[in-house]
Amino acid sequence: MKTLLTCLLVMVLSAQLFAQTKYAILPKPTRLEEKSGSFMVPAKLAIAVPAGNDNVRQIAQLLADQLAKSSGNTPTITTGKASKGISFVLEKAGSLGAEGYKLMVSPKNITIAAEQPQGFFYGVQSLMQLMPSAVFSPTKVAGVTWSVPACVIDDRPRYSYRGSMLDAGRNFMPVPFIKKYIDLLALHKMNTFHWHLTEDQGWRIEIKKYPKLTQIGSIRPKSMIGKYSDNAYDGKPYGGFYTQDEVRDVVKYAQSRYVTVVPEIEMPGHSVAVLAAYPEFGSNPDKILQVSSKWGVHDEVLFPREETFTFLQDVLTEVMDLFPSQYIHIGGDECPKTQWKQSRFCQDLMKKEGLKDEHELQSYFIRRIDKFITSKGRRMVGWDEILEGGLSPNATVMSWRGVNGGVAAARQNHDVIMTPNTYCYLDYYQADAKTQPIAIGGFLPLEKVYSFNPSVTDSLTADQSKHVLGVQANIWTEYMPTTQYVEYMTFPRLIAIAETAWTPSDGKNFDDFKQRLEAHKKRLNYLNVNYFGSPINNTFQYQWPKAVAGK
Ligand code: ACM
Repeated sequence: MKTLLTCLLVMVLSAQLFAQTKYAILPKPTRLEEKSGSFMVPAKLAIAVPAGNDNVRQIAQLLADQLAKSSGNTPTITTGKASKGISFVLEKAGSLGAEGYKLMVSPKNITIAAEQPQGFFYGVQSLMQLMPSAVFSPTKVAGVTWSVPACVIDDRPRYSYRGSMLDAGRNFMPVPFIKKYIDLLALHKMNTFHWHLTEDQGWRIEIKKYPKLTQIGSIRPKSMIGKYSDNAYDGKPYGGFYTQDEVRDVVKYAQSRYVTVVPEIEMPGHSVAVLAAYPEFGSNPDKILQVSSKWGVHDEVLFPREETFTFLQDVLTEVMDLFPSQYIHIGGDECPKTQWKQSRFCQDLMKKEGLKDEHELQSYFIRRIDKFITSKGRRMVGWDEILEGGLSPNATVMSWRGVNGGVAAARQNHDVIMTPNTYCYLDYYQADAKTQPIAIGGFLPLEKVYSFNPSVTDSLTADQSKHVLGVQANIWTEYMPTTQYVEYMTFPRLIAIAETAWTPSDGKNFDDFKQRLEAHKKRLNYLNVNYFGSPINNTFQYQWPKAVAGK
């Protein structure tokens, strides 16, 4: 009897495991009903789209192109309904919302229904994750049975903001990698790419009116190697920036994947690269500065002079021309007040404006920028330091020093994006530091990242909770000199954050996530992603070159 029960238990458990890998969609859909049978993808597959809807046709084309590459058979795109193929069906505005979709797979056909193109795009992401992992291959894979398990999926996101920040300031990230990164966000139904474009260690975006920002500000004389405490440098100049044409190309590419690109232009801190190019916007116009080679926080900051505001408005005008995003990120974090405290000009301005301390002076700075951005019909977002000294009227807050900044902002009825370092900083170690390449510190294994619940319902009322727009993963790149490093630190932890952002909290389960992730890794292998634990790691250089101290 006991043996029989054990056998039954094993059968039930393995059936569950099989189901989870058969329906291994990440992030997990809101509702998935398994059905029996499978749709066999025919060699001559028809994909039908609604007539006259170019956006939906383009999404169908992305699916057709990928199937053509990986299976060797090119689907045809038609209009109307495909009785034996895949049909994209437009729903009337109702319950699905802008990003929701329904996916119905039967042995006879497949239907994706949505109200908006974005919903179809997400329906396609789920459909591809029901297909054999080979569908993600860039080249034809032989010997695959192209079947799709039958099911009914009804899906929409928990949060409207699902993002990732990538720091291109500390280490420059080439455009092809930015596109790959955007693809990987889209694959996991993330809809925002926050592009961190300026730093003490490098200004990375061409601004026509201020050419020295890139001529001087994009190049640092050397870079730190090894741990921060080693204080060691490689002695080699390092640079890179995006031309405006490249930025436009990236923004367009992201649009076709339903990813909004939010630019970040840091102020008033993290601005040494600006001051190396234009010292007149800092403490002393005659001070000669170099773009910083050292990581960390620097005392040299922008000064709240009229000339500085004119400069920043000019820069933001060019930035807003390039980025159609509603949000414009202005940084606002880690601005030491040392220089402002010592400056006659700043102290006089504080008196004149009735500002009681330097935090209020920072608020004055940010409020002026907020007013400018708002006057252009956009919305300003900044790191949670913008709360100190008073929040400017239209600001959205990115809560990074834990969730408290987010809670404080939501209580003031301001919108919030949760990106606490306690869960969302993917530059922290993901395993025992002794076994890992050098990282900034911290410890955030996958399970901890997965456990985050952004809604903090114990601290907020239901109405205040509505201000929590979503979640973001942050990838700061001081200790990631190559794109392979970035992938290693980002994946699979970013997928855990994607699931937190998309899946209702009662649908989340770490064991179930891990099982789906095992199936998903085969897809990531086809996509050549160097995730933590991937086969590519075999050739991965864990240790930095030996540092030459003081070089
Ligand atoms: C931050 O990590 N300084 C926003």
